[in-house]
Amino acid sequence: MEKLVSLCKQRGFIFPSGEKYGGLQGFWDFGPLGVELKNNIKKSWWKRFVQMRIDVVGQDSTIITNPKVWEISGHIGGFSDVLVECKKCHHRFKADDLSAVSKCPDCGGEFTKEKNFNIMFKTHVGPTEDTASVAYLRPETAQNIFVNFDTVRTAMRTRIPFGIAQIGKAFRNEITPGNFIFRSREFEQMELEYFINPKDDEKWFKEWVDLSMQWFLDLGIKKENLRKYEQKKDELAHYAKATTDIEYKFPFNKGFGELMGIANRADHDLSAHGFKYKDDITQKEFIPYVIEPSIGVDRAALAFLLDAYTEVEGGRTTTTESNKEKEMVLKLHKDLAPYKVAILPLSKKEDLTKLALEIFDELKGRYMVAYDQVSSIGRRYRRQDEIGTPYCVTVDFESLEDNAVTVRDRDTMEQERIPVAELSAYINKKLES
Ligand code: GAP
Repeated sequence: MEKLVSLCKQRGFIFPSGEKYGGLQGFWDFGPLGVELKNNIKKSWWKRFVQMRIDVVGQDSTIITNPKVWEISGHIGGFSDVLVECKKCHHRFKADDLSAVSKCPDCGGEFTKEKNFNIMFKTHVGPTEDTASVAYLRPETAQNIFVNFDTVRTAMRTRIPFGIAQIGKAFRNEITPGNFIFRSREFEQMELEYFINPKDDEKWFKEWVDLSMQWFLDLGIKKENLRKYEQKKDELAHYAKATTDIEYKFPFNKGFGELMGIANRADHDLSAHGFKYKDDITQKEFIPYVIEPSIGVDRAALAFLLDAYTEVEGGRTTTTESNKEKEMVLKLHKDLAPYKVAILPLSKKEDLTKLALEIFDELKGRYMVAYDQVSSIGRRYRRQDEIGTPYCVTVDFESLEDNAVTVRDRDTMEQERIPVAELSAYINKKLES
């Protein structure tokens, strides 16, 4: 994990927010490569679960909304952790985390009694800071979907079963943020609320667990690193009738930890917000149930990075003595890799640069292409391996004669000579396979 955290910072994936001033616990910035990875995760999810489905539509709603939403949903009353505070150093801890400890682990001080701590961030809307202006940063994207149930359904003329999907920021004032981006205070969620007839809830619940698991497998997560966990009654959130977590074998959390959750929220939300549904064929009126697959984008990014992180004994890209230590390869799925191709001219000579830039220009409209002409070719291959670029295109002196380039595969390290005129079609085929 430490090696991955260090790689993420050095290579511009993820680093602490506001680091120049010491950072802020639970807040992380995604750099040039991190934002590409995150966008690719979101693109893949949206394509699979919105674009490719006849029964799902999307929306994008605000982070701050009418606070009544959170009162009705039960978040103002129920979205809390039980915590204790040290009377001496005033550090706060989750009571759950301290079951075997009676003194403050930081200074040995006494604890206060347990108290409920709501983890929604509060703010004020408008210039006055009175109770009437209190509002909250949303702790989940889901509620904005529920309150739009009728508006979206009417606009899109959808019939049950159907889903509304949303990707966006969520905020939780977590008591114990940590494990890199696993638990942050600001993060993104990809949530889908699938509205169904209550009599079909078990069928759809299973279907969404299976579809969610398959998405991770199709994006290359190793099967042995994933498992399902059915939450026990006393672990369920205040809104859930049943929840199955998909867990990943994180290198903390005693082995496996929650990657995403699929909840059967029954009619908790639609009934609380006062919605009903009338079937236009049977004319029967009822409150739909909701099946909710919910994924944290940042947590998924962490799982994809951990799963792709591979160390190879030295000498993979270079054979010099100084580079014989372990080399890192990020074996990200092609759809997730920040750059799909890197163009590497062997020298900075003008005619090589000209051809290399022409190739860059030809490919750049289709996908993210890296261009690197600094340092030895071995070091450049190594850098692209570390950031997960599936294909490197080397433009060498022979290219000026035969109008062909060498394409190197990140995983097999096989090299193929491809005519420049066929390169675009060759790479497209590889990326689509
Ligand atoms: N709408 C349901 C909901 O929000 P949740 O289990 O609280 O359910 C869903 O959150 C997913 O969001 C989690 O499985 C996780 O992937 C992600 N998530 C939750 N809290 C997080 C945090 N503090 N930091 C990063 N990701 C988080």
